[in-house]
Formats: sequence, structure tokens, C-alpha cells
Amino acid sequence: MGTFLSRTPKTCCSAAGWRTTVRPVVEPDEIRTERLVLSRPQPTDADAFIALHNTPEAYPHDGWLRRTPEQALEQLDRFREKWAADGIGYWTIRLAGTAEVIGFGGVQHHDEDDGPELNVYYRFFPTAWGRGYATEMVEAALGWARRHRPDRTVRIVTDPANTASVRLAEKLGFTRYLERQRDGHPEVVFRLAAR
Ligand SMILES: CC(C)(COP(=O)(O)OP(=O)(O)OC[C@H]1O[C@@H](n2cnc3c(N)ncnc32)[C@H](O)[C@@H]1OP(=O)(O)O)[C@@H](O)C(=O)NCCC(=O)NCCS
Repeated sequence: MGTFLSRTPKTCCSAAGWRTTVRPVVEPDEIRTERLVLSRPQPTDADAFIALHNTPEAYPHDGWLRRTPEQALEQLDRFREKWAADGIGYWTIRLAGTAEVIGFGGVQHHDEDDGPELNVYYRFFPTAWGRGYATEMVEAALGWARRHRPDRTVRIVTDPANTASVRLAEKLGFTRYLERQRDGHPEVVFRLAAR
């Protein structure tokens, strides 16, 4: 894939009787925004993913989620399994025109807790913070959600003390749904209602 258009168009008859080519919209494995390239993760992204886990500043309120290289590889495999199952999942995020990975994140189906939802996630290397990249990536994720699953509530779960993450959620229209403890850690759930 890699294009919005199917390579195998179907034909059918329009109301006027003319034969019309219909090309169903297929979501690509890669989405480009103004400044970012968002790609389905590949095994070759492993070094970047391990490096992110090895960056304590990228886990300011959730350091317990940092993984050993072996565990990080397993997590990357799970990202890839979600893609294989659902046709969408978290992206590897690069700056357009470069090979540099600046973070991981996106939107993924989530079927626990409060029923079927879409979960938005973001984690960037500190060198990429403060330039609006997370906003740009989450807007692309919400675009996917609107196109494909407008019936699904979208959620962001973060630590209530994570001011950057909380601000990002609020600025994109998410509202506080609940606060709770999970495994001894506080979390706030933000939601964007289905349409
Ligand atoms: C959270 C994170 C993704 C934000 O990425 P970013 O690219 O810097 O975010 P943006 O530049 O798009 O900024 C989004 C908003 O948050 C604000 N913001 C960014 N960093 C902030 C901070 N440290 N404190 C308060 N607000 C902050 C921005 O000013 C902007 O709001 P504005 O448009 O009203 O000015 C990034 O800080 C990060 O990767 N943090 C570590 C990982 C993490 O905590 N992820 C969440 C796990 S649940």
C-alpha cells in the first residue's frame, strides 16, 4: 500500500447507467503531514525504539514503562501485530525528508476497560519537543479516526502531572473523563466522543 487509492478498481453502473470506476479508499501504511512522515513500524525501527526506551527524559512520569532492549523489541512486535490485525496502529514518526526517527505514536484499537475505543499515544525524543510535532501527529491520528471509525470514542490516558501531555489532549478537544489509580500509578483518562 502507500497510496489512498486501490490498485484494483471495481467497476459498477452509476444511476445514469454509465459504467463508472469506483476506487475504494484504502488507508496507506504511510501518512504524510506538513512536516512528518508517519509509517507502519518496521523491524528496522528497532534501534530507534530501543533508544527511546533508553531515554529517561522521554518517560517523565512513567519511568516504570521503560523496557530492556529485549522487552522493547517484544513491544515493537506487538505494535506490528496490531497493524497486521487491524490495519492501523502506532506509527514510527520521522521528519519529512530525513531518516531520523523522532518518536512513536498514533492511534490503535483498544478493547479493554470501558469497551471498544481508540487509544491515542505519543512519545517523542526530547530533541523534538516544543515544535508542534505531537499536535501535528495527533491531528493525523484523529483524521484517521474520523475517516474510518467515527463511531468510536477516542481516548488519551496520561499521568495527571504530565502537563505537556494534558495540554496536548485539552488543546485537541479531549475532555477529562475520569481519574483513577492503575497498578499504584495515577492516571487521567481524556475522551473525545464518537460522532
Ligand atoms: C507530550 C509530548 C508528546 C508533547 O510533544 P510536543 O511535540 O512537544 O507537543 P506540541 O509542541 O505539539 O505542544 C502541544 C501543546 O502542549 C504544550 N506543551 C508542550 N510541552 C509542554 C510542557 N512541558 N508544559 C506545558 N505545556 C507544554 C505546548 O505549548 C502546546 O500547547 P499550545 O499550543 O497551547 O502552546 C512530548 O512532551 C513527549 O514526548 N513527552 C514525553 C512522553 C510522554 O510523556 N508521553 C505521554 C505519555 S502518556
